[in-house]
Amino acid sequence: MDAQPVEADPTDADLTTTLATLIDLATPFAVRTAITLRLPELVAGGSTRLDALADASGAHQESLGRLLRHLVSIGLFTETAPQTYGLTPLSRHLLAEDGTWFRGWLNLESPGTKMDLAFTGMLHSIRTGHSAYGAVHGVPFWSDYQDNDALREFFGGVMAAYAWQTGPVLATEFDWTDVRTVIDVGGGIGALLAEVLAAHPHLRGEVLDLPPVVAEANQALREAGVADRAEFVPGSFFDPLPAGRDVYVVSRVLTDWNDENAGKILRRCAEAAGTHGRILIVEVLAGDDHAKRNTSFDLQSLVLLGGQERSPADTEKLAVDAGLVVARGRRWPGGLVVIECMSAGREN
Ligand SMILES: C[S@@+](CC[C@H](N)C(=O)[O-])C[C@H]1O[C@@H](n2cnc3c(N)ncnc32)[C@H](O)[C@@H]1O
Repeated sequence: MDAQPVEADPTDADLTTTLATLIDLATPFAVRTAITLRLPELVAGGSTRLDALADASGAHQESLGRLLRHLVSIGLFTETAPQTYGLTPLSRHLLAEDGTWFRGWLNLESPGTKMDLAFTGMLHSIRTGHSAYGAVHGVPFWSDYQDNDALREFFGGVMAAYAWQTGPVLATEFDWTDVRTVIDVGGGIGALLAEVLAAHPHLRGEVLDLPPVVAEANQALREAGVADRAEFVPGSFFDPLPAGRDVYVVSRVLTDWNDENAGKILRRCAEAAGTHGRILIVEVLAGDDHAKRNTSFDLQSLVLLGGQERSPADTEKLAVDAGLVVARGRRWPGGLVVIECMSAGREN
């Protein structure tokens, strides 16, 4: 048998370097500042000299030079001649990423950064178990979301970017043959519902979400060409839900809430589904390395919303505790997990 290579213990210098990287706040903000000033776009467009970049981005030239020195040191740009910059594989990759989903989030003037700044209140979350957003910004996330159009539209757009991926999978993998009515509970602007309705012309659907979402949802349903079979229902999933629908979809909602509140939402679905309807809990896991990446998403869920990431087994337990029977749990392409439940009193 070959001998296993022995890994050398890290030296004190290695450990200091690792720690310095872990605690560095300058780099994330330097990258976000570069994105906000559109430096990769400007360099790609030919503004490669410091004075031209300062002019085009409206920045203080000497300070911009210091920022670029750091960005060169981390590999976001290369210095091709004194005070002249070029793209690197990293900045090309950044430019290739989808604008709304990635650069939009990281722009320091966008609602995405406001959301991320909840991390500065992590201590509050760890001490209390609650979201830090209110402690940091003075107003709880879901209140700000309802009052602040830019935040709601941004969050809705990011959610829809996921739902446009999960919707087609749900539309094709789930058997909709015997279903006539479907309601997407906390369905946002209706992106998932629209995909399901578009694939199944015999279905009628509703999206239940908070009242301020109505305009964005109606527009999205119209643009998807399903407005004649879809309706927006303003309301809260903590209140009684429209009863008697064949299928209740709860997609990527439970992770926004702690077990107590997630259980309340499922109990509302169970009540409304009665002995006839089915409940589809939809979640997206971050792939095979989920367990590793999950720790970071889980903390984001906590500090932003007071929510939590759950494994499929944890979600099934939540459903059972809410009085549901799990008919089956399945994993589909794209990390999609669908747990099909029904009320404990249902006959089949
Ligand atoms: C993470 S998003 C998921 C959206 C969508 N289901 C999807 O899969 O993309 C959570 C949704 O819950 C909605 N929401 C938050 N609180 C709510 C409440 N009390 N009642 C109904 N909807 C609510 C938000 O407006 C948002 O659309």
